[in-house]
Amino acid sequence: MQIAIIGYGNMGSGIAKRAVVVGYSVVLAGRDLAAAKKAAERVGALAATPAEAVAGAELVVLATPYAAAANALVAAGDLNNRVLIDISNPLKPDFSGLTIGQTTSAGEEIAKLARGARVVKAFNTVFAPIFSEGPDLKGGTVPVFYAGDDAAAKESVRQFAERLGFATIDAGGLVNARMLEPLGMLNITLGYALGGGTSTAPTWLRRA
Ligand SMILES: NC(=O)c1ccc[n+]([C@@H]2O[C@H](COP(=O)([O-])OP(=O)(O)OC[C@H]3O[C@@H](n4cnc5c(N)ncnc54)[C@H](OP(=O)(O)O)[C@@H]3O)[C@@H](O)[C@H]2O)c1
Repeated sequence: MQIAIIGYGNMGSGIAKRAVVVGYSVVLAGRDLAAAKKAAERVGALAATPAEAVAGAELVVLATPYAAAANALVAAGDLNNRVLIDISNPLKPDFSGLTIGQTTSAGEEIAKLARGARVVKAFNTVFAPIFSEGPDLKGGTVPVFYAGDDAAAKESVRQFAERLGFATIDAGGLVNARMLEPLGMLNITLGYALGGGTSTAPTWLRRA
């Protein structure tokens, strides 16, 4: 199965590295092909233009800042029927909060932009270093909360996340990105502003 990842920064490279290790064929893409090639070499992936990467992929991960999503999606070309994973937290530039929320979410706005794509919100509560350090922390396996409106797309994302070694929690429809993004913000606040570090993640406990 081929995974296209648009954005080769902390998250794009981290997801790529882990996906390659567990046997996926990964193509990294971004706005600078030479930089994508360098990042791809570091993690054992291939590099291509966004449109080329998307054309051959079953799963597409959008790993750019939310503010860059519109431009990145234009460069990605035809996303019709593709499973598109939105991992973003729509952060203010000073990380003090989110730029949108409550009445919409980055996930829903990205779904409007990515015409025909089957958008699933996922991984936004997972810090980038977890991908290289591994998802098994004291107290359990880091969960990936995933939300979307297409059952088959959600199932693909669940399988992808679990193959990467994560636990998964079905968070319902894409509208629930409105709650997952503030949860991502809380994670960032605990990890950075309040000094908890990035080897942490939110989870959901149940008695049985
Ligand atoms: N870091 C985390 O721990 C974490 C955790 C959960 C979710 N997230 C989310 O994951 C996303 C990526 O975060 P990150 O930490 O990986 O950011 P990052 O390290 O700054 O990387 C961002 C990537 O996006 C690329 N990019 C920017 N504008 C672009 C455009 N118009 N077209 C294509 N690519 C473009 C950048 O390429 P250039 O080098 O060309 O600028 C870079 O490769 C964000 O939405 C963030 O909210 C991050």
